[in-house]
Amino acid sequence: MSARLNPSILSADFVNFERDFGTIANCDLIHVDVMDNNFVPNLTFGLPMVARMQQITPKPLDVHLMIANVDRWAVGYAETGAFSVTFHAEASENPVKLARALRAAGARAGVAIKPGTDVETFLDELAEFDQLLVMTVEPGFGGQGLIEETLSKVTKARRRIDAEKLDVWLQVDGGVDETNIERIAQMGADTFVAGSAVFKAEDRAKQIENLRDLANLGLSHRH
Ligand code: DX5
Ligand code: ZN
Repeated sequence: MSARLNPSILSADFVNFERDFGTIANCDLIHVDVMDNNFVPNLTFGLPMVARMQQITPKPLDVHLMIANVDRWAVGYAETGAFSVTFHAEASENPVKLARALRAAGARAGVAIKPGTDVETFLDELAEFDQLLVMTVEPGFGGQGLIEETLSKVTKARRRIDAEKLDVWLQVDGGVDETNIERIAQMGADTFVAGSAVFKAEDRAKQIENLRDLANLGLSHRH
């Protein structure tokens, strides 16, 4: 298992995405935060922007939908060619049904849970998803501190993924930086979103390498 490092473009320059994508070219996937000022109290962009992003980078897009009524909208993102589409369980009437529709549309299907949402309900359904996103901050804004209590969900999910030998990526998003990424990897996360930690760095490419190296170190020391 090796770590994936996905910079969140929530911290990028919104009128210079093409230029900023160039500064993170050594990343694994590009994490694209879609917010609707409804499911979360912040607003970013929607389907036409994501479709356009797809055209300006060869990198796979890791779309994170923080939108209400997601059963209506998520498949459209898969149809733009997004490599991965992750929606919030709290915003879906039927997460398993939606995941099946995303896979049928050719995307990897991810399910995300907010800090207050229990992971247990999803452990029995993990095989239906390609990624579980454990939010380590309240979704909505970059630059927040990681909520420690969320990490027990990473440990629980990793235990189940390993026990059932599932091919499910375990992603964390929010407050991930060089001070905690190794420890989170040691708990079993394999896919790391980092917004401010990457975009604030003077040399973003070097910071991506640094974060991924630390994560791989943590993965190699898993107990
Ligand atoms: C928060 C978003 C994150 C955010 C992470 O709701 O889902 O992807 O950009 O930013 P940092 O890494 O700065 O916490
Ligand atoms: Zn995100």
